[in-house]
Amino acid sequence: MVLAQVEEKSLAPTVPELDLGETVLAVATDYTPIALAHGRRIAFEAPPSRVVIRGYEWAVESVVTNLIENAARAEPAGGVVIVRVLANGEVEVVDYGEGVELTHRDMIFEPFWRKSEAAPGTGLGLAIAPGS
Ligand SMILES: Nc1ncnc2c1ncn2[C@@H]1O[C@H](COP(=O)(O)OP(=O)(O)OP(=O)(O)O)[C@@H](O)[C@H]1O
Ligand SMILES: [Mg+2]
Repeated sequence: MVLAQVEEKSLAPTVPELDLGETVLAVATDYTPIALAHGRRIAFEAPPSRVVIRGYEWAVESVVTNLIENAARAEPAGGVVIVRVLANGEVEVVDYGEGVELTHRDMIFEPFWRKSEAAPGTGLGLAIAPGS
């Protein structure tokens, strides 16, 4: 029994450490030409010292890309989307669009839910985000 437990633990994948500021900055940088082409800018803020978390780079990239895409779509023309890494490992993406109505706050995480079909998208970005 003890041996089995030890074996199970040694097989468990170790979630790698990653530099959150570096990863999020790379996503924001990649997205900047697209935002500029659509008349929006991206501002990046991070603490002076490194923020190291355990996580998979591809998962963080996927979640943050969707948040930036959503924010850039919501941001009024000429505006700035702020992408902010906090020392506690949280990432904030701020836009100055109309926001999400209180009654829709749970629905935005449902697969395929979208307020409007006018903008491109599938409605899956936030549905995958909480599990990443
Ligand atoms: N920053 C935001 N401001 C206003 N509404 C938002 C914002 N982010 C998300 N939403 C609303 O939530 C919906 C669902 O977002 P989600 O990212 O899951 O899907 P999507 O962006 O429509 O499509 P996909 O991410 O699959 O390309 C959006 O269609 C939009 O109506
Ligand atoms: Mg999206």
